[in-house]
Amino acid sequence: MVNTKEDDNMHPSAALYTRFVLRGYDFVVLQFSNAFAWCCPTDSALLPLFRQHIGAQAHLDVGPGSGYYLAASAAELAEVERLTLVDLNPDALQYTKERLQAVGHTRTMETMIHDVFKPFPSAMHGQYDSISMFYVFHCLPGAFPHKARDVITRLKPLLKPSAVFYGATILGQAHNWLGNCLMDLYNGKGVFCNKEDTREGLEEALAEHYEEVEVRIVGRVALFVARKPTIKCNVS
Ligand SMILES: C[S@@+](CC[C@H](N)C(=O)[O-])C[C@H]1O[C@@H](n2cnc3c(N)ncnc32)[C@H](O)[C@@H]1O
Repeated sequence: MVNTKEDDNMHPSAALYTRFVLRGYDFVVLQFSNAFAWCCPTDSALLPLFRQHIGAQAHLDVGPGSGYYLAASAAELAEVERLTLVDLNPDALQYTKERLQAVGHTRTMETMIHDVFKPFPSAMHGQYDSISMFYVFHCLPGAFPHKARDVITRLKPLLKPSAVFYGATILGQAHNWLGNCLMDLYNGKGVFCNKEDTREGLEEALAEHYEEVEVRIVGRVALFVARKPTIKCNVS
């Protein structure tokens, strides 16, 4: 496992994901909250998006959490030569790695403890056909478009010119009663930071760095696909 940072003082948005929490994550988040709070079903909306854009040779997943999407995409990943998992929390990486091995993923996986706000090693530049980032933006401190710009600037150099950056994030407004309760709870604890996150803010950040941007809304979740990274990179 590559470690590019010290994991002392981990932010709550990553520190939450202990093995204990990860064991309940699929039920609480992917089954219950996605269906009833965020109104964006995991298996009919999010999983198909995850599978659809996995690249031909090299794929990187940011913030795998419990590894549900990766494990459910074992058939697609079997074709991929290089799989890299990036997370600030080593428990999420180890849990996902074990889960993938349990479903028969025998190819080598790279795991990297890394803060997505920080620069990646130059050896990773231009290597990936696809980068997925599901349910990470809404956890990250800051607001759209700024936090998305900062992250996109870090990830963009890793992509090949023909690559795709895609994912999903819970937006900040117009939730139902259950959604509002969870938004208050999670934002209060620093696990989410998304009360100001809007579709327009996400689109603005993506459009600054990609020629082709698609954002569609399912329930209160923005599903995004960005292609053709532009050359310009304006954050040091
Ligand atoms: C809500 S979980 C998402 C899990 C999975 N992708 C999904 O959609 O169900 C957020 C993940 O992002 C990771 N994370 C949070 N902040 C991060 C950061 N700054 N850099 C890298 N990973 C981070 C967490 O540790 C966790 O694994």
